[in-house]
Amino acid sequence: MAPVPHLAALAPVRIGPYEVDPPVVLAPMAGVSEAPYRVISLEMGAGLAPTELVSARGLQFGNTRTADYLRHDPHREPVLSVQIFGGDPEAMARGAELAVAAGARILDINMGCPVKKVTRNGAGSALMTDATRAAAIVSVMKARVGDRVPITAKIRAGWDESTVNAPSFGRALEDAGLSAIALHPRTRRQGYAGRADWSLIAALKAAVDIPVIANGDIFSVADADRIVQETGCDAVMIGRAALGYPWIFREVAAAMIDEREAPKPTAQERVALILRHLDDHVEHIGDEGRALKKFRQHLIWYSRGMRGGAAFREKAMRLEERARIEALVERFFAGTDVSDRTEAPIYDERTAFG
Ligand SMILES: Cc1cc2nc3c(=O)[nH]c(=O)nc-3n(C[C@H](O)[C@H](O)[C@H](O)COP(=O)(O)O)c2cc1C
Repeated sequence: MAPVPHLAALAPVRIGPYEVDPPVVLAPMAGVSEAPYRVISLEMGAGLAPTELVSARGLQFGNTRTADYLRHDPHREPVLSVQIFGGDPEAMARGAELAVAAGARILDINMGCPVKKVTRNGAGSALMTDATRAAAIVSVMKARVGDRVPITAKIRAGWDESTVNAPSFGRALEDAGLSAIALHPRTRRQGYAGRADWSLIAALKAAVDIPVIANGDIFSVADADRIVQETGCDAVMIGRAALGYPWIFREVAAAMIDEREAPKPTAQERVALILRHLDDHVEHIGDEGRALKKFRQHLIWYSRGMRGGAAFREKAMRLEERARIEALVERFFAGTDVSDRTEAPIYDERTAFG
């Protein structure tokens, strides 16, 4: 592996009273960043793994589905970061209090979600069109819980190409009391098309004093090293590359800690991890039938780029019985050691909320 001097030079990042060590973060991903996968990512080496976006109003109305997003084992996740979304400062402050009561130690505000259902209520990336309201959300939340609980935000480049404002927007949030900021440098209009504009992360870094977490198109240790070099960021955040490949955290963390190359997962390791993920997932969801259906998406990701993956997926999508799914996983993943991680990430744009 090529040397990774920039990653190895990164220091742990301080967010309020907490240290993110190593400074590599699992990106919040709807349908993915649930307790079982967060814990796996942390064990693999991620220093922080926030929840997916959670509605502030859903928290307020005691919606059970919303409360489910916050369920976690504090022994396995002592520093839980909960990402909340909403457009109204008072509703967000109330949501913040409830999230803290449910165990949140860090509160992350979603200011990047491009989905209409979210933006039409002035939340997610719509906040980037109104820095005054976005800053008001930070200060009201801070006034309510900020003594104990640091507040972070995850933003995009801006609303569209003519209103790119991440650096000045980040500065306004810092002035309102933000403790750290993550940037996915694509505009709302871009969705996931084109390339993330890392130069904007460098511009944000120059504009603020709080830690900057770089996100967008990190698919390998080499990418992570390059984003640190090009942007001067304090931490890196990885999303799609971690779908079906939590070992990315072991690889990046090893490069950060001692510049060594982490071993690639063996076939046995893959089998053991996927089965353990399945167990934890079923336990977390409770309803086995629903859990198994939901786990199909993970099986798609785990098998992407693997020889015979298409045939495996076709079979896996038809199975409904847990024992048969487990047997298929064992057979397939124990029998193939070869993977080609260059295959494009498989994900559904409609389910991407950042
Ligand atoms: C399936 C999926 C779900 C996502 N859900 C969220 C979310 O809940 N909150 C958020 O801030 N970003 C969300 N995002 C955006 C990611 O956090 C991240 O910013 C984006 O994928 C770019 O990083 P990457 O290139 O490492 O994937 C989601 C992305 C994907 C692919």
